Order: sequence, then C-alpha cells, then structure tokens
Amino acid sequence: MGDMLSVKDLKVTFLNNRKEALHGITFSMAEGERLGLVGESGSGKTVTAMAISGLIERSNVEVTGDVIFEDTDLHRCSRSKLRSIQGPGIGVIFQEPMNSMNPLIKVGHQVEEVLRLHTDLVPEVRKKMAIDALDRVGLPNPEEIYNKYPHQLSGGQRQRAMIASAMIIHPKLLICDEPTTALDVSVQAKILKLLRELSDEYKMGILLISHDLMVVKQLCENVAVMYKGNIVEQGKTLDIFNAPKDEYTRQLMAAIPTRRRHE
Ligand SMILES: Nc1ncnc2c1ncn2[C@@H]1O[C@H](COP(=O)(O)OP(=O)(O)OP(=O)(O)O)[C@@H](O)[C@H]1O
Ligand SMILES: [Mg+2]
Repeated sequence: MGDMLSVKDLKVTFLNNRKEALHGITFSMAEGERLGLVGESGSGKTVTAMAISGLIERSNVEVTGDVIFEDTDLHRCSRSKLRSIQGPGIGVIFQEPMNSMNPLIKVGHQVEEVLRLHTDLVPEVRKKMAIDALDRVGLPNPEEIYNKYPHQLSGGQRQRAMIASAMIIHPKLLICDEPTTALDVSVQAKILKLLRELSDEYKMGILLISHDLMVVKQLCENVAVMYKGNIVEQGKTLDIFNAPKDEYTRQLMAAIPTRRRHE
C-alpha cells in the first residue's frame, strides 16, 4: 500500500533450459527509496532487474507472481502501456553500455531519445537538455561528446552517457545494474554522488544492484541480499551491516576488508 513498486512472490523460469532463476522473491520500494540488491554472481540480480523493468522477453520466460509499479501490473499490461512506463517511470542502466548503445547513432541523440519518445519538447530544447545531462554526469566538453559515436568514447565515458540518457527524464525509479563496476574508483565515487543528488533532488527511487556491499552502503538506506534465486535477508543497510542474520550475508560481509568496512 502506497508503495511505488511492489514485487510479490516473483518467479522467473527460462523456457530454453527450464531453469527457474527466481524462486519467488518479495520486496517493495517506497517513492524515492534507495534499495541495494546484493549477492554473488548468478544469484539472480540481473534477472530481477530485467523482470522489474519489463525488459525480459515475455516469450522466453514463464513469469508468475506480481510486479506492480504504481498500480500497473507490468507482466500483464499491454505492450504500449509498458512502453509508456519504460523511460519516464522506470529507467535502467546496465553494466556494459556497449550492449545497450546503438553504435550507429550519435551519443547525443541516444541521450535525448527518451525525450523524443515521451515528451513534446522541440529538438533545440532536447539538445540543450542532453548537453546539460552530459555535463551533469561529469563529461568534459559535453557539446563535443554530443556529436560523437559510442566507439569514440572510453568505457567510463560511455557509462556516464548511459546514466545521462536514463536520468534526463528523471524516472520515478532508476534501476542500476552494476553501474560503476567497470569504472575506476574516483569516477565511481563521482557517479554514486551524482545518483544520490538526483535521487534527493527529484525523489527518484534507485534500485542499485552490486556485488559490492560497500557501494550499496554508500547509497542505499535499505538492502536485500540474494542467494541462489532467493532473497535471504532484507532490511535497513546499517542493521544488516551491524548484525547480519543470514549465514550467507555474514559470508558476504566477511569478504570485505576490515579497513573498508568502516568507510
Ligand atoms: N537468458 C537466460 N537463459 C537462461 N538462463 C539464464 C538467462 N539469463 C540468466 N540466466 C540464469 O539465471 C541465473 C541468474 O542470473 P543473473 O544474470 O540474474 O545473475 P546475477 O546475480 O546478475 O550475476 P552477476 O553478478 O554475475 O551479474 C543464472 O543461473 C543464469 O544462468
Ligand atoms: Mg548481473
């Protein structure tokens, strides 16, 4: 009730190998909430992100349970309804931006695409907003970047351009799947700071997926821990840091060097 996102007993089975990747996960997010989703490789974090954003190809999977985003059932609504939510309602940033950027289209045009699809803004305004967004994510010479192609950018620059293209429309919920894993530590810190600012400024909720508990701790008030397709523990980040209840969470914690634990 009153939740922005409510996920109930979500199960996802891939039809190609009959693999049940999610065994019935339940969690919710309030408006503006920042929730971290952590867990080892293969635990189901990306599948969760795909299922929540409606990006999972319906014909490839069997989904049961509910994903309710602001009163819309994302797995049973029409495709046009889903498309109207993707972008302004739910934005997504993935780990490897090369896969999500079109190599043939200039970076700036990709950044403003969501405005073209979902607003009546005229091209000059869209361009100005795209350059502002590129600037906001800390890219130098945003006017130049605007006219470049994805392969002309470094990995870190592409990742920031991806963030610009998701945040330009200030989605209600931004899903970030390992958004900083490929970046060096100083860029990573800047991006996390930017995400926090945007979230505070626009009451933008963030679902931050990371295998790095310290990254989650820096940004998220709440955390859910995944293990083999289940959420094994969830609650306030600080509580879980101070007193992990689940054995697997304790193992994840133990993997953090003591020095970093107090960051
Ligand atoms: N397209 C697919 N077809 C079949 N199985 C899949 C598919 N995508 C994911 N899976 C399976 O679902 C499980 C969860 O994968 P997922 O990508 O969500 O893990 P993850 O937690 O994101 O891991 P990582 O930290 O490595 O990114 C894995 O066992 C994976 O093999
Ligand atoms: Mg993943």
